[in-house]
Amino acid sequence: DQAEFVPAVVVGTGYGAAVAALRLAEAGVPTLMLEMGQLWNQPAEDGNVFCTMLNPDRRSTWFKTRTEAPLGTFLWLDVINRDIESYPGVLDRVHFAEMSVYVGRGVGGGSLVNGGMAVTPTRSYFAEVLPQVDAAEMYRTYFPLANRMLGVNSIAPDFFESTEYYQYARVSRKAAAAAGFGTASVPNVYDFEYMRAEAAGTARKSALGGEVIYGNNAGKRSLDKTYLAAAIGTGRVTVQTLHRVAAINRQSDGTYLLSVHQIDTTGAVVARKQLSCRYLFLGAGSLGSTELLLRARDTGALPDLSDSIGTEWGPNGNVMTGRANHIWDPTGANQSAIPALAIDNWADPDHPVFAEIAPVPAGIETWASLYLAITRNPERGTFYYDAAGDRLGLRWRRDQNTPAVTATKALFDRINKANSTIYRYDLFGSTAAFADDFCYHPLGGCPLGRPTDGYGRVTGYRNLYVTDGALIPGSIGVNPFVTITALAERNLARIVAEDVRA
Ligand code: FDA
Repeated sequence: DQAEFVPAVVVGTGYGAAVAALRLAEAGVPTLMLEMGQLWNQPAEDGNVFCTMLNPDRRSTWFKTRTEAPLGTFLWLDVINRDIESYPGVLDRVHFAEMSVYVGRGVGGGSLVNGGMAVTPTRSYFAEVLPQVDAAEMYRTYFPLANRMLGVNSIAPDFFESTEYYQYARVSRKAAAAAGFGTASVPNVYDFEYMRAEAAGTARKSALGGEVIYGNNAGKRSLDKTYLAAAIGTGRVTVQTLHRVAAINRQSDGTYLLSVHQIDTTGAVVARKQLSCRYLFLGAGSLGSTELLLRARDTGALPDLSDSIGTEWGPNGNVMTGRANHIWDPTGANQSAIPALAIDNWADPDHPVFAEIAPVPAGIETWASLYLAITRNPERGTFYYDAAGDRLGLRWRRDQNTPAVTATKALFDRINKANSTIYRYDLFGSTAAFADDFCYHPLGGCPLGRPTDGYGRVTGYRNLYVTDGALIPGSIGVNPFVTITALAERNLARIVAEDVRA
Protein backbone atom coordinates (compact mmCIF):
# COMPACT_ATOMS: atom_id res chain seq x y z
CA ASP A 1 0.00 0.00 0.00
CA GLN A 2 1.03 3.55 -0.68
CA ALA A 3 1.90 5.33 2.59
CA GLU A 4 -0.11 8.45 3.27
CA PHE A 5 2.01 11.55 2.52
CA VAL A 6 2.16 14.68 4.67
CA PRO A 7 4.64 17.50 4.00
CA ALA A 8 6.00 17.64 7.57
CA VAL A 9 5.80 15.34 10.57
CA VAL A 10 6.76 16.35 14.08
CA VAL A 11 7.24 13.46 16.52
CA GLY A 12 6.08 14.38 20.04
CA THR A 13 4.25 17.42 21.39
CA GLY A 14 6.67 18.72 24.06
CA TYR A 15 8.58 22.02 23.96
CA GLY A 16 10.83 21.43 20.97
CA ALA A 17 8.06 19.78 19.01
CA ALA A 18 5.56 22.57 19.71
CA VAL A 19 7.98 25.25 18.52
CA ALA A 20 8.69 23.28 15.34
CA ALA A 21 5.01 22.76 14.53
CA LEU A 22 4.10 26.41 15.04
CA ARG A 23 6.96 27.79 12.97
CA LEU A 24 6.47 25.26 10.15
CA ALA A 25 2.76 26.05 10.01
CA GLU A 26 3.41 29.78 9.95
CA ALA A 27 5.71 29.16 7.00
CA GLY A 28 2.79 27.53 5.21
CA VAL A 29 3.73 23.87 5.72
CA PRO A 30 0.90 21.47 6.63
CA THR A 31 2.22 19.61 9.65
CA LEU A 32 1.19 16.45 11.45
CA MET A 33 2.17 15.91 15.08
CA LEU A 34 2.30 12.33 16.36
CA GLU A 35 2.01 11.88 20.12
CA MET A 36 2.05 8.56 21.96
CA GLY A 37 0.14 9.98 24.94
CA GLN A 38 -3.41 11.27 25.23
CA LEU A 39 -5.06 14.65 24.78
CA TRP A 40 -5.88 15.82 28.29
CA ASN A 41 -8.97 17.99 27.93
CA GLN A 42 -11.95 15.80 28.88
CA PRO A 43 -13.12 15.65 32.50
CA ALA A 44 -13.49 12.15 33.95
CA GLU A 45 -16.40 11.07 36.13
CA ASP A 46 -15.13 13.15 39.06
CA GLY A 47 -15.38 16.28 36.90
CA ASN A 48 -11.61 16.70 36.67
CA VAL A 49 -9.26 16.13 33.77
CA PHE A 50 -6.36 15.16 36.05
CA CYS A 51 -6.24 13.33 39.37
CA THR A 52 -4.60 14.83 42.45
CA MET A 53 -1.27 13.89 44.00
CA LEU A 54 -2.82 12.80 47.28
CA ASN A 55 -5.41 10.60 45.62
CA PRO A 56 -3.81 9.25 42.44
CA ASP A 57 -5.73 6.99 40.09
CA ARG A 58 -5.06 5.50 36.65
CA ARG A 59 -4.81 8.97 35.09
CA SER A 60 -1.57 9.55 37.01
CA THR A 61 0.76 7.02 35.46
CA TRP A 62 1.79 5.67 32.05
CA PHE A 63 0.88 1.95 31.94
CA LYS A 64 1.81 0.82 35.44
CA THR A 65 -0.23 -0.97 38.09
CA ARG A 66 1.20 1.13 40.90
CA THR A 67 2.14 4.80 41.05
CA GLU A 68 5.85 5.62 41.26
CA ALA A 69 6.03 8.98 43.04
CA PRO A 70 9.42 10.59 43.61
CA LEU A 71 8.85 10.77 47.37
CA GLY A 72 8.17 7.08 47.87
CA THR A 73 7.72 7.00 51.63
CA PHE A 74 6.89 9.15 54.62
CA LEU A 75 8.28 8.21 58.03
CA TRP A 76 9.56 5.19 56.07
CA LEU A 77 5.96 4.12 55.49
CA ASP A 78 4.71 3.09 52.07
CA VAL A 79 1.76 5.48 52.34
CA ILE A 80 2.27 7.50 49.18
CA ASN A 81 2.02 5.15 46.21
CA ARG A 82 -1.25 3.48 45.22
CA ASP A 83 -2.30 0.47 43.20
CA ILE A 84 -3.93 1.66 40.00
CA GLU A 85 -5.38 0.30 36.79
CA SER A 86 -2.92 0.20 33.87
CA TYR A 87 -3.75 3.12 31.58
CA PRO A 88 -2.00 5.74 29.42
CA GLY A 89 -1.68 8.19 32.32
CA VAL A 90 0.24 11.43 32.17
CA LEU A 91 3.48 10.74 34.07
CA ASP A 92 5.97 8.06 33.14
CA ARG A 93 9.01 6.84 35.06
CA VAL A 94 11.35 5.12 32.63
CA HIS A 95 13.69 2.67 34.34
CA PHE A 96 17.21 2.11 33.13
CA ALA A 97 19.69 -0.09 35.01
CA GLU A 98 21.01 2.57 37.42
CA MET A 99 18.89 5.64 36.71
CA SER A 100 15.21 6.29 36.20
CA VAL A 101 13.83 9.25 34.31
CA TYR A 102 10.49 11.00 34.77
CA VAL A 103 8.81 12.22 31.58
CA GLY A 104 5.38 13.58 30.66
CA ARG A 105 3.12 11.67 28.25
CA GLY A 106 0.34 13.47 26.46
CA VAL A 107 -0.31 16.49 24.26
CA GLY A 108 2.11 18.97 25.80
CA GLY A 109 4.77 16.45 26.89
CA GLY A 110 6.62 17.50 30.03
CA SER A 111 4.61 20.72 30.30
CA LEU A 112 1.66 18.70 31.63
CA VAL A 113 3.48 17.35 34.67
CA ASN A 114 6.34 19.71 35.39
CA GLY A 115 6.68 22.35 38.10
CA GLY A 116 6.41 25.13 35.54
CA MET A 117 9.66 26.72 36.72
CA ALA A 118 10.80 28.87 33.83
CA VAL A 119 14.43 29.77 34.36
CA THR A 120 16.82 31.38 31.90
CA PRO A 121 20.34 30.00 32.51
CA THR A 122 23.24 32.23 33.45
CA ARG A 123 24.79 33.47 30.25
CA SER A 124 28.30 32.34 31.06
CA TYR A 125 27.21 28.75 31.73
CA PHE A 126 25.00 28.68 28.64
CA ALA A 127 27.99 29.82 26.55
CA GLU A 128 30.14 27.12 28.13
CA VAL A 129 27.61 24.33 27.44
CA LEU A 130 26.73 25.45 23.90
CA PRO A 131 29.80 27.37 22.70
CA GLN A 132 28.78 27.13 19.03
CA VAL A 133 25.55 29.07 19.66
CA ASP A 134 25.67 32.88 19.48
CA ALA A 135 24.83 33.71 23.11
CA ALA A 136 24.31 37.41 22.36
CA GLU A 137 21.58 36.54 19.87
CA MET A 138 20.00 34.04 22.29
CA TYR A 139 19.80 36.53 25.17
CA ARG A 140 18.71 39.37 22.89
CA THR A 141 16.13 37.51 20.82
CA TYR A 142 15.31 33.88 21.57
CA PHE A 143 15.21 33.73 25.37
CA PRO A 144 12.85 36.76 25.48
CA LEU A 145 10.74 35.19 22.70
CA ALA A 146 10.50 31.87 24.54
CA ASN A 147 9.56 33.56 27.82
CA ARG A 148 6.88 35.60 26.08
CA MET A 149 5.41 32.67 24.16
CA LEU A 150 5.40 30.40 27.22
CA GLY A 151 3.57 33.00 29.32
CA VAL A 152 6.23 33.24 32.01
CA ASN A 153 5.36 35.39 35.04
CA SER A 154 6.72 36.05 38.52
CA ILE A 155 5.03 35.91 41.89
CA ALA A 156 4.10 39.28 43.41
CA PRO A 157 6.28 39.85 46.50
CA ASP A 158 3.33 40.88 48.71
CA PHE A 159 1.53 37.61 47.96
CA PHE A 160 4.66 35.48 48.40
CA GLU A 161 5.50 37.11 51.74
CA SER A 162 2.01 36.90 53.20
CA THR A 163 0.36 33.70 52.04
CA GLU A 164 0.39 30.58 54.22
CA TYR A 165 0.96 28.54 51.04
CA TYR A 166 4.59 29.70 50.74
CA GLN A 167 5.49 29.45 54.41
CA TYR A 168 7.54 26.37 53.47
CA ALA A 169 9.64 28.48 51.11
CA ARG A 170 10.10 31.29 53.66
CA VAL A 171 11.20 28.78 56.31
CA SER A 172 13.80 27.40 53.90
CA ARG A 173 14.93 30.91 52.99
CA LYS A 174 15.49 31.69 56.68
CA ALA A 175 17.50 28.50 57.14
CA ALA A 176 19.61 29.29 54.06
CA ALA A 177 20.20 32.86 55.23
CA ALA A 178 21.45 31.61 58.61
CA ALA A 179 24.22 29.84 56.68
CA GLY A 180 24.93 32.87 54.51
CA PHE A 181 23.18 31.68 51.35
CA GLY A 182 20.95 33.84 49.20
CA THR A 183 17.73 32.88 47.45
CA ALA A 184 16.24 33.83 44.09
CA SER A 185 12.61 34.18 43.09
CA VAL A 186 11.85 31.63 40.37
CA PRO A 187 9.59 32.66 37.44
CA ASN A 188 6.90 30.20 36.37
CA VAL A 189 4.31 29.53 33.70
CA TYR A 190 1.66 29.02 36.38
CA ASP A 191 -0.55 32.11 36.47
CA PHE A 192 0.29 33.67 39.85
CA GLU A 193 -2.75 35.98 39.71
CA TYR A 194 -4.92 32.88 39.36
CA MET A 195 -3.08 31.44 42.36
CA ARG A 196 -3.87 34.58 44.35
CA ALA A 197 -7.54 34.02 43.56
CA GLU A 198 -7.19 30.40 44.71
CA ALA A 199 -5.78 31.63 48.01
CA ALA A 200 -8.63 34.13 48.34
CA GLY A 201 -11.13 31.34 47.81
CA THR A 202 -12.55 32.81 44.60
CA ALA A 203 -11.04 30.29 42.17
CA ARG A 204 -10.87 26.52 42.05
CA LYS A 205 -7.73 25.32 43.81
CA SER A 206 -5.12 23.65 41.61
CA ALA A 207 -1.57 24.54 42.69
CA LEU A 208 -2.98 25.29 46.13
CA GLY A 209 -4.90 22.02 46.02
CA GLY A 210 -1.70 20.02 45.70
CA GLU A 211 -1.83 19.44 41.95
CA VAL A 212 1.32 19.27 39.87
CA ILE A 213 3.10 16.04 38.83
CA TYR A 214 -0.11 14.33 37.69
CA GLY A 215 -1.31 17.49 35.94
CA ASN A 216 -2.93 20.78 36.94
CA ASN A 217 -6.67 21.17 36.45
CA ALA A 218 -6.33 24.96 36.32
CA GLY A 219 -3.85 27.81 36.46
CA LYS A 220 -0.96 26.34 34.53
CA ARG A 221 -0.08 27.53 31.04
CA SER A 222 1.01 24.18 29.71
CA LEU A 223 1.93 23.94 26.03
CA ASP A 224 -1.60 23.00 24.96
CA LYS A 225 -2.61 26.51 26.08
CA THR A 226 0.35 28.35 24.50
CA TYR A 227 2.47 27.08 21.61
CA LEU A 228 0.21 24.19 20.64
CA ALA A 229 -2.93 26.33 20.72
CA ALA A 230 -1.18 28.83 18.44
CA ALA A 231 0.01 26.05 16.14
CA ILE A 232 -3.44 24.50 15.82
CA GLY A 233 -4.88 27.99 15.39
CA THR A 234 -2.98 28.36 12.12
CA GLY A 235 -5.25 25.71 10.63
CA ARG A 236 -2.24 23.82 9.31
CA VAL A 237 -1.41 21.58 12.27
CA THR A 238 -3.15 18.36 13.20
CA VAL A 239 -2.31 16.17 16.18
CA GLN A 240 -2.83 12.42 16.37
CA THR A 241 -2.76 10.99 19.87
CA LEU A 242 -2.03 7.48 21.11
CA HIS A 243 0.21 7.24 18.04
CA ARG A 244 3.70 5.99 18.79
CA VAL A 245 6.35 6.33 16.11
CA ALA A 246 8.08 2.96 16.19
CA ALA A 247 10.65 3.37 13.41
CA ILE A 248 11.90 5.77 10.77
CA ASN A 249 13.33 5.00 7.37
CA ARG A 250 14.13 6.83 4.15
CA GLN A 251 12.79 6.14 0.68
CA SER A 252 14.73 6.41 -2.56
CA ASP A 253 13.11 9.78 -3.38
CA GLY A 254 14.51 11.25 -0.15
CA THR A 255 11.22 11.33 1.74
CA TYR A 256 10.98 9.70 5.14
CA LEU A 257 8.84 6.71 5.93
CA LEU A 258 7.46 6.30 9.44
CA SER A 259 6.08 3.14 11.02
CA VAL A 260 3.44 4.24 13.50
CA HIS A 261 1.61 2.16 16.09
CA GLN A 262 -1.78 3.37 17.19
CA ILE A 263 -2.69 2.05 20.63
CA ASP A 264 -5.86 2.00 22.69
CA THR A 265 -6.13 2.77 26.37
CA THR A 266 -5.16 -0.79 27.30
CA GLY A 267 -1.92 -0.34 25.37
CA ALA A 268 -2.91 -2.81 22.65
CA VAL A 269 -1.80 -1.89 19.14
CA VAL A 270 -5.02 -1.34 17.22
CA ALA A 271 -3.50 -0.13 13.94
CA ARG A 272 -0.13 -0.12 12.23
CA LYS A 273 0.29 2.79 9.84
CA GLN A 274 2.88 3.93 7.34
CA LEU A 275 3.30 7.64 6.78
CA SER A 276 5.67 9.47 4.51
CA CYS A 277 6.88 13.04 4.76
CA ARG A 278 9.42 15.42 3.29
CA TYR A 279 10.45 17.11 6.58
CA LEU A 280 10.82 15.06 9.72
CA PHE A 281 11.33 16.77 13.08
CA LEU A 282 12.14 14.64 16.12
CA GLY A 283 10.71 16.25 19.26
CA ALA A 284 10.20 13.10 21.30
CA GLY A 285 12.54 14.30 24.06
CA SER A 286 16.05 13.25 25.09
CA LEU A 287 14.96 9.61 25.41
CA GLY A 288 12.47 9.40 22.56
CA SER A 289 14.38 11.19 19.81
CA THR A 290 17.63 9.42 20.64
CA GLU A 291 15.89 6.04 20.65
CA LEU A 292 14.42 6.60 17.17
CA LEU A 293 17.81 7.58 15.74
CA LEU A 294 19.73 4.76 17.42
CA ARG A 295 17.18 2.21 16.20
CA ALA A 296 17.37 3.64 12.67
CA ARG A 297 21.16 3.53 12.66
CA ASP A 298 21.66 0.14 14.25
CA THR A 299 18.98 -1.69 12.28
CA GLY A 300 20.47 -0.32 9.07
CA ALA A 301 17.47 1.85 8.17
CA LEU A 302 19.56 5.05 8.26
CA PRO A 303 23.09 3.62 8.23
CA ASP A 304 24.92 6.91 7.71
CA LEU A 305 23.84 8.33 11.07
CA SER A 306 26.75 9.44 13.23
CA ASP A 307 28.53 7.33 15.84
CA SER A 308 27.96 10.17 18.29
CA ILE A 309 24.21 9.54 18.55
CA GLY A 310 23.47 8.52 22.12
CA THR A 311 26.35 10.47 23.64
CA GLU A 312 26.50 13.38 26.09
CA TRP A 313 23.52 12.31 28.18
CA GLY A 314 23.12 13.74 31.67
CA PRO A 315 20.45 14.26 34.37
CA ASN A 316 21.24 17.99 34.72
CA GLY A 317 22.98 17.21 38.01
CA ASN A 318 19.61 16.47 39.69
CA VAL A 319 19.62 15.34 43.34
CA MET A 320 16.72 15.53 45.80
CA THR A 321 17.20 15.91 49.52
CA GLY A 322 15.12 16.78 52.58
CA ARG A 323 15.81 18.51 55.91
CA ALA A 324 13.99 18.19 59.21
CA ASN A 325 13.00 21.51 60.71
CA HIS A 326 12.64 22.29 64.39
CA ILE A 327 9.22 21.99 65.96
CA TRP A 328 9.04 25.80 66.20
CA ASP A 329 9.62 26.12 62.42
CA PRO A 330 6.55 24.50 60.86
CA THR A 331 6.47 24.49 57.06
CA GLY A 332 2.67 24.63 56.94
CA ALA A 333 -0.06 22.08 56.26
CA ASN A 334 -1.10 24.03 53.16
CA GLN A 335 1.60 24.35 50.53
CA SER A 336 1.55 25.57 46.96
CA ALA A 337 2.60 22.72 44.67
CA ILE A 338 4.28 25.25 42.39
CA PRO A 339 7.78 26.17 43.63
CA ALA A 340 8.63 29.87 43.59
CA LEU A 341 12.00 30.20 45.32
CA ALA A 342 15.47 28.66 45.00
CA ILE A 343 18.70 28.74 46.98
CA ASP A 344 21.14 30.16 44.48
CA ASN A 345 24.74 29.17 45.16
CA TRP A 346 25.65 28.68 41.50
CA ALA A 347 28.50 31.19 41.77
CA ASP A 348 30.33 28.91 44.23
CA PRO A 349 33.58 27.94 42.47
CA ASP A 350 33.84 24.47 44.07
CA HIS A 351 30.26 23.29 44.41
CA PRO A 352 27.82 25.31 42.31
CA VAL A 353 24.22 24.44 43.23
CA PHE A 354 20.85 25.89 42.24
CA ALA A 355 18.42 24.27 44.69
CA GLU A 356 14.74 24.80 44.16
CA ILE A 357 12.69 24.76 47.34
CA ALA A 358 10.10 22.08 46.65
CA PRO A 359 6.78 21.65 48.42
CA VAL A 360 5.59 18.67 50.44
CA PRO A 361 1.88 19.18 49.76
CA ALA A 362 0.73 16.48 52.16
CA GLY A 363 -2.15 18.43 53.67
CA ILE A 364 -0.65 17.96 57.14
CA GLU A 365 2.32 19.51 58.91
CA THR A 366 5.46 17.50 58.11
CA TRP A 367 8.26 19.82 59.33
CA ALA A 368 10.09 18.67 56.21
CA SER A 369 11.92 20.94 53.80
CA LEU A 370 12.42 19.37 50.39
CA TYR A 371 14.84 20.46 47.66
CA LEU A 372 15.63 19.61 44.07
CA ALA A 373 19.29 20.50 43.66
CA ILE A 374 20.64 21.20 40.18
CA THR A 375 24.39 20.75 40.23
CA ARG A 376 27.23 20.92 37.77
CA ASN A 377 28.01 17.26 37.36
CA PRO A 378 30.48 16.72 34.49
CA GLU A 379 29.73 12.97 34.29
CA ARG A 380 27.92 11.82 31.13
CA GLY A 381 26.02 8.69 30.17
CA THR A 382 25.55 7.04 26.78
CA PHE A 383 22.37 5.67 25.27
CA TYR A 384 22.51 2.49 23.20
CA TYR A 385 20.06 0.44 21.20
CA ASP A 386 19.23 -2.83 22.92
CA ALA A 387 18.50 -4.94 19.84
CA ALA A 388 17.30 -7.99 21.79
CA GLY A 389 14.64 -5.97 23.60
CA ASP A 390 14.15 -3.47 20.72
CA ARG A 391 14.45 -0.66 23.23
CA LEU A 392 16.66 2.11 24.53
CA GLY A 393 19.39 1.34 27.04
CA LEU A 394 21.46 3.78 29.11
CA ARG A 395 25.04 3.32 30.24
CA TRP A 396 25.09 5.33 33.46
CA ARG A 397 26.47 4.11 36.77
CA ARG A 398 24.95 5.24 40.03
CA ASP A 399 28.36 6.42 41.23
CA GLN A 400 28.48 8.90 38.34
CA ASN A 401 26.16 11.01 40.46
CA THR A 402 28.74 11.27 43.27
CA PRO A 403 29.85 14.77 42.18
CA ALA A 404 26.20 15.92 42.31
CA VAL A 405 25.65 14.42 45.77
CA THR A 406 28.91 15.91 47.02
CA ALA A 407 27.89 19.39 45.89
CA THR A 408 24.39 19.05 47.34
CA LYS A 409 25.79 17.78 50.63
CA ALA A 410 28.30 20.62 50.82
CA LEU A 411 25.44 23.13 50.64
CA PHE A 412 23.00 21.43 52.98
CA ASP A 413 25.63 20.37 55.54
CA ARG A 414 26.32 24.07 56.03
CA ILE A 415 22.62 24.90 56.25
CA ASN A 416 22.05 22.11 58.76
CA LYS A 417 25.06 23.16 60.84
CA ALA A 418 23.99 26.80 60.97
CA ASN A 419 20.48 25.80 62.05
CA SER A 420 21.29 22.73 64.20
CA THR A 421 19.05 20.64 61.95
CA ILE A 422 19.48 17.25 60.27
CA TYR A 423 18.55 15.53 57.01
CA ARG A 424 15.33 13.55 56.57
CA TYR A 425 16.11 9.88 56.03
CA ASP A 426 12.53 8.65 55.64
CA LEU A 427 11.45 10.12 52.29
CA PHE A 428 13.10 8.21 49.47
CA GLY A 429 12.08 4.64 50.15
CA SER A 430 15.29 3.64 51.96
CA THR A 431 17.39 5.41 54.58
CA ALA A 432 19.12 7.63 52.04
CA ALA A 433 19.25 11.38 52.62
CA PHE A 434 19.99 12.02 48.93
CA ALA A 435 17.91 10.70 46.05
CA ASP A 436 20.33 10.37 43.15
CA ASP A 437 18.76 7.46 41.29
CA PHE A 438 16.12 9.43 39.39
CA CYS A 439 15.91 12.68 37.49
CA TYR A 440 13.39 15.09 36.02
CA HIS A 441 15.73 16.78 33.56
CA PRO A 442 17.06 14.30 30.99
CA LEU A 443 19.33 16.16 28.55
CA GLY A 444 21.43 15.08 25.60
CA GLY A 445 21.75 12.02 23.38
CA CYS A 446 21.94 14.06 20.15
CA PRO A 447 24.24 16.90 21.27
CA LEU A 448 24.10 19.97 19.06
CA GLY A 449 26.98 20.06 16.60
CA ARG A 450 27.95 16.38 16.95
CA PRO A 451 25.42 14.09 15.17
CA THR A 452 23.72 17.29 13.96
CA ASP A 453 24.97 20.57 12.59
CA GLY A 454 24.79 23.72 14.69
CA TYR A 455 21.02 23.97 14.12
CA GLY A 456 19.83 20.43 14.79
CA ARG A 457 19.99 19.20 11.18
CA VAL A 458 20.91 15.52 11.40
CA THR A 459 24.21 14.89 9.64
CA GLY A 460 23.98 12.67 6.58
CA TYR A 461 20.21 13.02 6.10
CA ARG A 462 18.61 16.02 4.45
CA ASN A 463 15.38 17.36 6.00
CA LEU A 464 15.77 15.32 9.21
CA TYR A 465 16.01 17.38 12.40
CA VAL A 466 16.29 17.04 16.18
CA THR A 467 14.47 19.85 17.99
CA ASP A 468 14.27 19.00 21.70
CA GLY A 469 16.21 18.42 24.93
CA ALA A 470 18.32 15.76 23.21
CA LEU A 471 20.36 18.63 21.73
CA ILE A 472 21.61 19.95 25.08
CA PRO A 473 24.66 18.05 26.31
CA GLY A 474 23.79 16.80 29.79
CA SER A 475 23.55 19.95 31.88
CA ILE A 476 22.29 23.53 31.72
CA GLY A 477 22.46 24.58 35.39
CA VAL A 478 18.77 25.48 35.78
CA ASN A 479 15.42 23.87 34.99
CA PRO A 480 15.69 23.26 31.26
CA PHE A 481 12.46 23.96 29.36
CA VAL A 482 13.07 27.66 28.67
CA THR A 483 16.43 26.75 27.12
CA ILE A 484 14.92 23.89 25.10
CA THR A 485 12.25 26.27 23.80
CA ALA A 486 14.61 29.15 23.01
CA LEU A 487 17.10 26.87 21.26
CA ALA A 488 14.31 25.33 19.17
CA GLU A 489 13.13 28.84 18.21
CA ARG A 490 16.64 29.78 17.11
CA ASN A 491 17.10 26.58 15.11
CA LEU A 492 13.67 26.76 13.48
CA ALA A 493 14.23 30.36 12.39
CA ARG A 494 17.27 29.21 10.43
CA ILE A 495 15.71 25.99 9.13
CA VAL A 496 12.52 27.71 7.95
CA ALA A 497 14.56 30.40 6.17
CA GLU A 498 17.00 28.04 4.47
CA ASP A 499 15.47 24.59 4.07
CA VAL A 500 11.70 24.75 4.00
CA ARG A 501 9.40 25.22 1.02
CA ALA A 502 5.68 25.67 1.65
P1 FDA B 1 9.15 16.37 26.21
O1 FDA B 1 9.58 15.23 27.07
O2 FDA B 1 8.48 17.52 26.85
O3 FDA B 1 8.14 15.84 25.10
C1 FDA B 1 8.36 14.65 24.37
C2 FDA B 1 7.01 14.12 23.92
O4 FDA B 1 7.22 13.13 22.93
C3 FDA B 1 6.18 13.46 25.02
O5 FDA B 1 4.89 13.96 25.00
C4 FDA B 1 6.23 11.98 24.65
O6 FDA B 1 5.05 11.28 25.04
C5 FDA B 1 6.36 12.03 23.15
N1 FDA B 1 7.01 10.86 22.56
C6 FDA B 1 8.16 10.26 22.95
N2 FDA B 1 8.48 9.26 22.13
C7 FDA B 1 7.52 9.20 21.18
C8 FDA B 1 7.30 8.36 20.05
N3 FDA B 1 8.15 7.39 19.71
N4 FDA B 1 6.17 8.56 19.31
C9 FDA B 1 5.29 9.56 19.63
N5 FDA B 1 5.47 10.38 20.70
C10 FDA B 1 6.57 10.22 21.45
N6 FDA B 1 11.64 21.67 33.55
C11 FDA B 1 11.63 23.01 33.82
O7 FDA B 1 12.22 23.79 33.07
N7 FDA B 1 10.97 23.47 34.93
C12 FDA B 1 10.34 22.64 35.81
O8 FDA B 1 9.73 23.10 36.80
C13 FDA B 1 10.37 21.23 35.54
N8 FDA B 1 9.79 20.34 36.41
C14 FDA B 1 9.64 19.01 36.03
C15 FDA B 1 8.89 18.14 36.81
C16 FDA B 1 8.65 16.83 36.37
C17 FDA B 1 7.84 15.89 37.22
C18 FDA B 1 9.19 16.40 35.12
C19 FDA B 1 8.95 15.01 34.61
C20 FDA B 1 9.96 17.26 34.36
C21 FDA B 1 10.20 18.57 34.80
N9 FDA B 1 10.93 19.46 34.02
C22 FDA B 1 10.98 20.80 34.37
C23 FDA B 1 11.60 19.03 32.78
C24 FDA B 1 10.86 19.44 31.51
O9 FDA B 1 9.50 19.08 31.59
C25 FDA B 1 11.56 18.76 30.32
O10 FDA B 1 12.89 19.21 30.28
C26 FDA B 1 10.88 19.08 29.00
O11 FDA B 1 9.53 18.67 29.00
C27 FDA B 1 11.61 18.41 27.84
O12 FDA B 1 11.08 18.92 26.63
P2 FDA B 1 11.29 18.17 25.26
O13 FDA B 1 10.76 19.04 24.19
O14 FDA B 1 12.71 17.73 25.17
O15 FDA B 1 10.42 16.82 25.36
